[in-house]
Amino acid sequence: MKVKAFIAVIVASCCFIAVSIAQEDNSALLERIKPVGKLQIAGAAPPQAAVAAGPRSGKDIYAGACTACHAIGVLGAPKTQVSAEWQPRLDEKGFDQVWKNAIDGIGAMPPMGACGDCTDDDIKAAIEYMIEGI
Ligand code: HEC
Repeated sequence: MKVKAFIAVIVASCCFIAVSIAQEDNSALLERIKPVGKLQIAGAAPPQAAVAAGPRSGKDIYAGACTACHAIGVLGAPKTQVSAEWQPRLDEKGFDQVWKNAIDGIGAMPPMGACGDCTDDDIKAAIEYMIEGI
């Protein structure tokens, strides 16, 4: 009797593991990446993180929510302040469309870059920082 129960537990855990592995996809990856950006807000600028309603610069927003992917081009993200990666997008779509795509999400990028407390204007400011000097 006990052996049967033991076997049942083993079989159940195998199924659970198989299901977990099957669910491993891009969105799970994005979920795991997300907290890294949030941690950086707290680590990089504690006084501003405490004043939630205060205005944040594009650079602050970028540092908190976008740098995780855009600093080194994770998942093909255009790299920050690298003209060759941004100029073709800006030429082809124009700033407003690129901005809208960042709000709605595009390809592997989640809507708003997964920044839960960003407004549309915050996203705009972060993009302006990413394309500064281009
Ligand atoms: C999880 C990774 C990730 C995060 C975080 C992220 N991005 Fe992106 N971003 C991408 C990827 C990947 C692309 C390229 C998507 C494509 O063209 O298929 C992209 C593209 C863009 C583009 C170009 C859109 C276009 O139309 O060409 C903009 C603008 C942008 N991101 C802004 C931001 C801003 C602003 C933030 C922070 C608030 C941010 N991203 C956070 C991954 C990310």
